Amino acid sequence: MTVELQRYLHMVAGEGENSYAQNSRLQEKAMVEVRPVLEKVVTDVYTALSPRTMVVADLGCSSGPNTLHFVSDVIRVTGDCCSRACRDPPELQFFLNDMPGNDFNSLFRSLDAQRKKTAASMPPHYVVGLPGSFYTRLFPERSVHFFHSSYSLMWLSQLPKELQVNSKIHLNEGNIYLRTTTSPSVVKMYQEQFQKDFLLFLKLRSKELVFGGQMLLSFLGRKNNNVFDGDLNHVYGLLGQALQSLVLEGIVEKARLDSFNLPIYGPSIDEVVAAVKQSEVYDINHIQLFESNWDPYDDSEGDFVGDTVQSGINVSKCLRAVMEPLLVRHFGEYILDELFERYAFNVAKHLEREKTRYSVIVVSLRSKP
Ligand SMILES: C[S@@+](CC[C@H](N)C(=O)[O-])C[C@H]1O[C@@H](n2cnc3c(N)ncnc32)[C@H](O)[C@@H]1O
Repeated sequence: MTVELQRYLHMVAGEGENSYAQNSRLQEKAMVEVRPVLEKVVTDVYTALSPRTMVVADLGCSSGPNTLHFVSDVIRVTGDCCSRACRDPPELQFFLNDMPGNDFNSLFRSLDAQRKKTAASMPPHYVVGLPGSFYTRLFPERSVHFFHSSYSLMWLSQLPKELQVNSKIHLNEGNIYLRTTTSPSVVKMYQEQFQKDFLLFLKLRSKELVFGGQMLLSFLGRKNNNVFDGDLNHVYGLLGQALQSLVLEGIVEKARLDSFNLPIYGPSIDEVVAAVKQSEVYDINHIQLFESNWDPYDDSEGDFVGDTVQSGINVSKCLRAVMEPLLVRHFGEYILDELFERYAFNVAKHLEREKTRYSVIVVSLRSKP
């Protein structure tokens, strides 16, 4: 991982208006959707292994409330398992992992508040923060029973080398992610980076998982195999357009935009399955893809967006909470308000034409004996 990403890849800290903590309903909805799978995996792991201390890790936990929901879900499900089986509960050891720039202080402050609300009858639990990239070894061998990661694995360990900020030629001019104007060689670089990273992640975790341990991963992907036809192409395409409009007005230098690319990749289910098979160390228990409206506050099912202007603002706030640190690092803070206002406008226009949804891939894996 580049030093650059180590330092600047994190969500907006604190609990202010633009913070990730206040703008993570999209990711919370994904956790609600995945909860039945989570309950099954936790039950299976606990029933199969019956550890005295169950070690659980959330990778890419960030600083909002979602990781705390995860912690309380695991406590509740394990407690219920034990009550049904009339067993004494195990102790639970949680590791909350994210990049070193993550706002662990806010996270642990909110954890403290939540702890006071947890029923005394629940299994005893201990929570530790674990800064570091999940593309490195994080745990001793065979020490973790259950890994969880939500909305994080679409982040690459780094941009493909040829696309990094200091490379002399700008290979993806005018774009910040994959668009129809992106050359096939750049598409291949992104795909290869994803395969390499995901495979590395799988292999690292397989060393750390106890035999019979499981992983539950949810991340942004795409519905079909056409690499240009995913929602991330639209979501980031519209952000790229907002940046281009700032270039046209001389607010941002063209070279600044041309040298910026997002270290993100939304894979198809086939790409995920291919990497899991290549790793040779997991059986796939469950794999699915579900869709989620771009606007985190739009819970409707149909193809109609009631208030496109408000939805544009909601989508923009949600993306700002995720992208702000990276954008500030590259372009400077001064563009932020203007950029996200233009982005909200672009999204509203897009939603007038078509209601679009994110595709979220959910996969649960069991380490092979
Ligand atoms: C969108 S947030 C999701 C947070 C949380 N899981 C949730 O559902 O709300 C993605 C998180 O992944 C973290 N992340 C990205 N790449 C990472 C890496 N290589 N190692 C650890 N964390 C990473 C980011 O810093 C960010 O906090």
